[in-house]
Amino acid sequence: MSFETILVETRDRVGLITLNRPQALNALNTQVLDELNQALDQFENDPAIGCVVLTGSSKAFAAGADIKQMVDLQYPGVFMDDFFSPADRIANRRKPLIAAVAGYALGGGCELAMICDFIYAADNARFGQPEINLGVLPGIGGTQRLTRAIGKAKAMEMCLTGRQMDAREAEQAGLVAKIFPVDQLLEETLKTAQVIASKSLPSVMMTKECVNRVFETSLAEGVRFERRVFHSIFATADQTEGMQAFVEKRQPNFKHN
Ligand code: HXC
Repeated sequence: MSFETILVETRDRVGLITLNRPQALNALNTQVLDELNQALDQFENDPAIGCVVLTGSSKAFAAGADIKQMVDLQYPGVFMDDFFSPADRIANRRKPLIAAVAGYALGGGCELAMICDFIYAADNARFGQPEINLGVLPGIGGTQRLTRAIGKAKAMEMCLTGRQMDAREAEQAGLVAKIFPVDQLLEETLKTAQVIASKSLPSVMMTKECVNRVFETSLAEGVRFERRVFHSIFATADQTEGMQAFVEKRQPNFKHN
């Protein structure tokens, strides 16, 4: 499959997608989101892939939704096309998706990073929701995911002022899992992705589903959901293998079933 706005490769059991519109600082237009979904479909359906990494360039993960594509849009069109709804499909993926963010992650770029399961950032990363400067507001979940990630005070201040946060502030606020020097970001993210991909895929996917449940339900319901999923994992061969390997003091040989 060939793409014009992204690069797609595999490294062992890890899929790597690189946003590749350098002339527009990886601004997200509908083609980028469509191609991203096609690449993710491919990885989602490939049993040999256990984790996916999404990255950009050292200057920009993505500088937002494509303003030049949006400038002439009108309400009937955006409503009828459900403009930017393809981003929801990215959020509904079942395999883990890690964002490796260097440079600008602004507007839709910040939102895309937050759709991923966690963010590793380069020390030059900058996060922000500057839509307020354009007379609009975040439209790919920014008001919701940023607030859940860093709390109301900081999220409200950022969305209302449009100011940017550097990597250190983003890590302290809980938006970012770890920071690396920019030239080590991709290598370190791929290392973590390989670790995740080496685990039993059913247990990885079920764990992701359970953690995400936090955002949709009460504690009691979430714990009940987790318990049911935990019970069901005893139907997998990897559960027997993982525990047997511990008892026999050897590494597990997961078959991902
Ligand atoms: C389209 C963009 C773009 C964007 C940058 N470019 N961001 N094109 N959409 N979001 C283009 C520029 O027009 C320019 O192309 C080229 O990329 C390089 O950008 P420069 O501005 O020359 O680079 P620099 O001076 O380094 O400034 C970097 C920057 C700035 C601070 C990131 O580009 C910037 O402020 N970009 C917009 C950030 C933003 O407002 N993002 C939110 C978008 S709204 P040309 O050909 O002109 O030289 C959004 C809504 C989400 O995301 C909700 C959707 C439903």
